[in-house]
Amino acid sequence: MRRKFIVGNWKMHKGPAEADTFADALKRALAGRDAAVDVGVAPPFLSLPAVVARLKHTGIQVAAQNLHAEIQGAYTGEVSGEMLRGAGVAYCLVGHSERRQLFGETDAVVEKKVHACFRSGLLPILCVGETLAEREAGHEREVVVRQLQAALGKVQADQVPSVTLAYEPVWAIGTGKTASPLQAQEMHATIRGWLEATYPAFVARSTRIQYGGSVKGANAAELMKMPDIDGALVGGAALNAEEFLQIIAAAG
Ligand code: 13P
Repeated sequence: MRRKFIVGNWKMHKGPAEADTFADALKRALAGRDAAVDVGVAPPFLSLPAVVARLKHTGIQVAAQNLHAEIQGAYTGEVSGEMLRGAGVAYCLVGHSERRQLFGETDAVVEKKVHACFRSGLLPILCVGETLAEREAGHEREVVVRQLQAALGKVQADQVPSVTLAYEPVWAIGTGKTASPLQAQEMHATIRGWLEATYPAFVARSTRIQYGGSVKGANAAELMKMPDIDGALVGGAALNAEEFLQIIAAAG
């Protein structure tokens, strides 16, 4: 009952011209496919309008990488969920580890941003994951559960399945060191177990949990076979259309 969802997070890559060319290539490659897998891209803010225009009516989803929690105001350099929704964006990443680590986003900020997504009509892709030090200390599960509790604590049960969860172990991001399928499955089962313990049964059954961290064409199929892995949030390998298409094919 959970369709796989593959999203390419472009991070700070591809300005409007390059984004437009990439979106066009993706659109052509996926035209007429039997859509067994949901696909999305998360371009940088400035490239969102071009990508939204290109991918209109294709079924390929467009996500922002970040938003500000307020609707508007004196927040120099920030972009609100309402602005993103107005620009035709459907999803928004929240709590990516790079936001948490490099831009000081706390659990409390992440929670506000999840609610800002709902307020503005964006679907959150909520990222959680432990650092290497936390894993080595044996705390990976408690860290991830704490992040989930903080971000989703005040979300109504019937809204939770509209959140896509993304388990991204920080030590696997951009390092070429993917979590093994079993390591990933173990954490995904923990997350699903937490959903089961916290909400009515339909929530755990229907909420998608993506894996992210050095996913490539070559390792995607093994990861996607795991019962609790419902897709991928892909960084580096999503910048190349051919490789991104391989990952989509591996999920189908
Ligand atoms: P990489 O696929 O480059 O490891 O990045 C993962 C990620 O952070 C996706 O959000």
